[in-house]
Amino acid sequence: MSSFTYGQRIERPLEEGWKFQKGDFPEAMEVSYNDRKWESVTIPHDWAIKGPFDKSIDLQTVAIVQDGEEKATEKSGRTGALPYIGTGWYRLSFEAEEINKEQQQVLLHFDGAMSEAKVYLNGEYIGEHPYGYGYFYFDITKHLRPGQENILAVRLHNEPKSSRWYPGAGIYRKVKLITKSKNAIEHWGTTVTTPYVSEEKAKVVVKAQTVGTVDSLSVALYTQEGILVAESGNVLSFEGEFETIIAVDQPNLWSPEHPNLYRLVTAVYRNGEKTDEVVERVGIRSLSYTAERGFELNGQRRKFKGVCLHHDLGPIGIAVNRAALKRQLLIMKEMGADAIRTAHNMPSIEQLELCDELGLMVIAESFDEWKKPKVENGYNRFFDEWAKIDVEHLVRATKNHSSIVMWSAGNEVPDQWGSEGVKRARWLQDLFHKEDPTRPVTVGMDQVKAVMESGFGAILDIPGLNYRTHLYEEAYERFPQGFVLGSETASTVSSRGIYKFPVKEYKTKKYSDMHSSSYDLEACSWSNIPEDDFILQDDQPWVLGEFVWTGFDYLGEPSPYNEEWPSRSSYFGICDLAGIPKDRYYLYRSRWNTEKETLHILPHWNWEGREGEVTPVFVYTNYKKAELFLNGKSLGTREKDPSTRLDRYRLRWMDVQYEPGVLKVIAYDDNDKPVAEKEVRTAGKPHRLLLEADKTVLKSDGKDLSYVTVTVVDKEGNPCPTANIPLTFSVKGAGSFKAVCNGDPTSLEMFHLPKMKTFNGKLVVTLQSKEGESGDVFLTVKGKGMKAELLIIND
Ligand code: GAL
Repeated sequence: MSSFTYGQRIERPLEEGWKFQKGDFPEAMEVSYNDRKWESVTIPHDWAIKGPFDKSIDLQTVAIVQDGEEKATEKSGRTGALPYIGTGWYRLSFEAEEINKEQQQVLLHFDGAMSEAKVYLNGEYIGEHPYGYGYFYFDITKHLRPGQENILAVRLHNEPKSSRWYPGAGIYRKVKLITKSKNAIEHWGTTVTTPYVSEEKAKVVVKAQTVGTVDSLSVALYTQEGILVAESGNVLSFEGEFETIIAVDQPNLWSPEHPNLYRLVTAVYRNGEKTDEVVERVGIRSLSYTAERGFELNGQRRKFKGVCLHHDLGPIGIAVNRAALKRQLLIMKEMGADAIRTAHNMPSIEQLELCDELGLMVIAESFDEWKKPKVENGYNRFFDEWAKIDVEHLVRATKNHSSIVMWSAGNEVPDQWGSEGVKRARWLQDLFHKEDPTRPVTVGMDQVKAVMESGFGAILDIPGLNYRTHLYEEAYERFPQGFVLGSETASTVSSRGIYKFPVKEYKTKKYSDMHSSSYDLEACSWSNIPEDDFILQDDQPWVLGEFVWTGFDYLGEPSPYNEEWPSRSSYFGICDLAGIPKDRYYLYRSRWNTEKETLHILPHWNWEGREGEVTPVFVYTNYKKAELFLNGKSLGTREKDPSTRLDRYRLRWMDVQYEPGVLKVIAYDDNDKPVAEKEVRTAGKPHRLLLEADKTVLKSDGKDLSYVTVTVVDKEGNPCPTANIPLTFSVKGAGSFKAVCNGDPTSLEMFHLPKMKTFNGKLVVTLQSKEGESGDVFLTVKGKGMKAELLIIND
């Protein structure tokens, strides 16, 4: 192992060579413990995602109070029915750098570990951190054996009833060693703010908190290409804290449309010698939230077109993967979303880096529970001792990400009830303000009446309302802020490719097949269809925007089928668990993405047995007017009607009688000129498989992913929308099979095994590159009665 030079900062990810064993082995903290028989894993890792699904895991007899339930009933899939409960141990043997302990220090840093982490090094207890989503680190200098083998052991433990969704299990985020001088910038010690921003000039303030003895600071700002833009002038210093202001002429501002970033290099010195340096990417942008002008980014008024995202990555579970996160964010951006809310937890650093880079604003959330429980073993157990630390860590670790535009101190916390809760809200908001005076704080509130009475809602910087569209007006009038945010909206439920008749609006409707209809008219008792939010967003200038629940289906919380087995993942997603857009995707895109034409017809047109029966047709489009034809015969023209709730945003033909053939829509512009058309055809028998990769070039880093959508098509190439065909997969060459998912929330087929049935004609296979191996990746997909298909991806 190389030795460490004074003044150098080395960050070393600990990814390879870990051993893992489920179960509790207190002796595994000892150096001499024999872990040879343990499983070899790489970090990030999720020990539960390989299942199998099992109804008895986390079976709960409870009333979900925040869903308005009063009676306890048996719930089977709340946390995804995957084996996350229990204890697990990780061990890693690593050779440490040669350091001089007098001059250098080594930090052991975790971006998160699920959960209740206890950390040991060389047989000694180092420390612990209970919150699975919290960032934490320890100074391990004292315990480290420089230049020698060291044994790191981590015990994790997950209680049953500790989450309202699939929390996953394991060291699922980055772990790294940071070796640096003892006279250095503190961990998370730089703070970059942009208190003045205009097109002509920006003022960038850089503060550095230091440790040890440091006597000066220098700061340089570069473009991403490495051209020097500005350097620090005068430096102020007060007891270990340094501050400098740099002026940037004609700054390239950061926004979702133009995610311009700079490279900031902050260095500190002692007696003229550089002792530490931190390099980070920063953006220049201004935020403003006022009663008069709502939310403004860089002086431009806008409303959030946001989605809430849970932390799981569908079939690959919670193990953080940059390629998987990037795919999710790109799908959301393509829909026109400009913001995400990390519900209901602290985001991964990779997700924030991607949001900086791709241009998505972020509400970084902290907790789903404060002191009062939602689930028996939730964060309520840790709140008193850890909430302050977790908030401080959240802000310190992430504050220099330009994408973050707001903090959220909590989601629907039961502490909304009672005066103690009001105090807690104030205390938490103050903590955020102390750590970061530049961003406002919200809480997603569902007890709207209660928070109006108690003053809880009035003290928040941004009152966030979850659902309850009927109370927006009253909340706006009673709260003093002069605006309201739709911190959580819609929660419309649907299963991709499933349509139910008769077509009606329903609340908490259940069907015997455990699916919800993709006519997008079904919600839960507390939630609503997209239109109810659109109307508020469009008609009320004081609504700051919305964050739809959710961008993607996630593991766990299978409302309205919490009681029905084998329902095990959510129905709320705009996209399914595989990431395939449901119909609703096009409704949002028709509103949000003004650059892209949207003309989408639903349902599919394979209704054998429904001949002559009423089968309504909806069109989601950004055109105002369109005409529908069935087998060449016009079924009339529809125009969006702002005075009718259901016709304001979708075009509907309610009395279409099904006959097989071609359903065609022609869109017209304002002068009744045909401008676009789309067709859906009745498909014939499944004939072959169509393989489409989202990415055809993979980085040979052993982490990059390509998502291949497999569609069953007929002889003419029409998608077969009802085909549920068992497929098998084999991968050769410079890649491997990672996972498969069909988006069916009731499927018990495992994601990591190379076989699965298509769900309504589709599924998605995830391929992973092999480290250091370049060349082609060959995916072969076989289906019964169909010829095998081969797809080749190049490295
Ligand atoms: C909200 C809650 C979310 C999710 C959602 C489902 O009340 O904040 O976590 O449970 O309902 O509609």
